Amino acid sequence: MSVLIKNGRVITADADQIADIFIEGETIKAIGKDLNIKATKEIDAAGKLVFPGGIDPHVHLEMPFMGAFSSDNYETGTRAALYGGTTMVIDFILQKQGNSLRSALEEWKSRSDNNCVGDYSFHMAVTDFNENTKKEIQEMIEVEGITSFKTFMAYKGVFMIDDRQMIELMAEVKKHGGLINVHATNGDMIDSLIAKHRSERKLSPLYHYLSQPEITEAEASGRFADMANYTGCPGYIVHLTCEGALNAVRNATKRNQKVFVETCIQYLILDASLYENDFEGAKWVMSPPLREKKDQETLWAGINQGLVEVVATDHCPFNWEKKLLGKDDFSKIPNGHPAIENRMELLFSEGVNKGRITLNKYVEVSSTNAAKIFGMFPRKGTIAVGSDADIVIFDPNEKHKLSAKTHHMNVDYSGYEGWELTGKVKTVLLRGKVAIENNHCNIDKGYGKFIRRNKVSSIV
Ligand code: URP
Ligand code: ZN
Ligand code: ZN
Repeated sequence: MSVLIKNGRVITADADQIADIFIEGETIKAIGKDLNIKATKEIDAAGKLVFPGGIDPHVHLEMPFMGAFSSDNYETGTRAALYGGTTMVIDFILQKQGNSLRSALEEWKSRSDNNCVGDYSFHMAVTDFNENTKKEIQEMIEVEGITSFKTFMAYKGVFMIDDRQMIELMAEVKKHGGLINVHATNGDMIDSLIAKHRSERKLSPLYHYLSQPEITEAEASGRFADMANYTGCPGYIVHLTCEGALNAVRNATKRNQKVFVETCIQYLILDASLYENDFEGAKWVMSPPLREKKDQETLWAGINQGLVEVVATDHCPFNWEKKLLGKDDFSKIPNGHPAIENRMELLFSEGVNKGRITLNKYVEVSSTNAAKIFGMFPRKGTIAVGSDADIVIFDPNEKHKLSAKTHHMNVDYSGYEGWELTGKVKTVLLRGKVAIENNHCNIDKGYGKFIRRNKVSSIV
């Protein structure tokens, strides 16, 4: 099977040109003007933008969490991602405290193997670092191709590790060429505020927000940066939301340290006023919570300053019935919101279209940087000869509305119901196969491949 994409405006992180792309099998074979090559299928991309397939390095599919499983499984989640132009996701395996990393990997494989429509990989969350876990780090990196390790500075008793475990884990991960991801919020401060609000019978979703003030994230982000600097381990802060936390990273740059930063689309475009609508606010109960308008400005600026490298989603959907578990107590609302399908279009419409980021920056933060940081570049994250043919053909002018009635995510509400966007994903290729075309998915579960990742770099 070969495909020729004709006359598109091909955008990568560092180029912008009208060109044809010739694909044979799973890879890109040629890029150039007016390619004179015959292909089994020709796609006219004149007037369209052509991007590398999006990479969302922060998703939670079929994840057991807070008394429920996130409602998108590997099939529905990766298919919805493809509809939205994301060809690859990185999901999180969660070690159970007291158990091995290996047993967690087996459990996650039992749900994901042969079930993905799009490509995927895993970060391994280390929730219990001890002498046994230590022995498994090298094996995860070298045998399994899982080169990034997630840590939590919150969710005490379930996922949180203490600072001793953090630095010892960092030392081991550094030794073997991996990277530490972190959920950087101060779990003890948050737990204390949750207990206070509950004892005062302040139980609505607004108190989820008020239990995680900016300082809880700024403090933990700074502490994480200090520990990464001390150990020399490459570090990546997931879902960073606010000015205080980004300033902690900015401070680390003054000693010539690099800490990678991911934000998520919701933190760029939604704000905490959504928690004021009584229980409706549960739709956006996530951790960290949505912040203030000034934090949105900080994050957009951080992207343009090169301090924020990645825009992900933290996709972790729960149906309304599950959100209702916290009807009488915000601390029981399963944390997370759906966005895997919406990220690329929202970022284009709110970012590129509103003049906040350039087209090259768009590609960088939605695809290229994640591929580089997580050891997949240049196989993924760009349009180049030899790269996987993961390609999005995008109409920058088409207007459309987001709605739970029309989205493909397996969740009964949208955090963006009725939002009018400009710019739509039209055609998506995954490793040379036309996966999405005419609003239809042509590939089945099982096509999505587990992508083994290389050792990571500490620069992008
Ligand atoms: O609210 C969130 N973020 N849910 C998923 C778990 C996490 O902390 O990333
Ligand atoms: Zn988190
Ligand atoms: Zn998450």
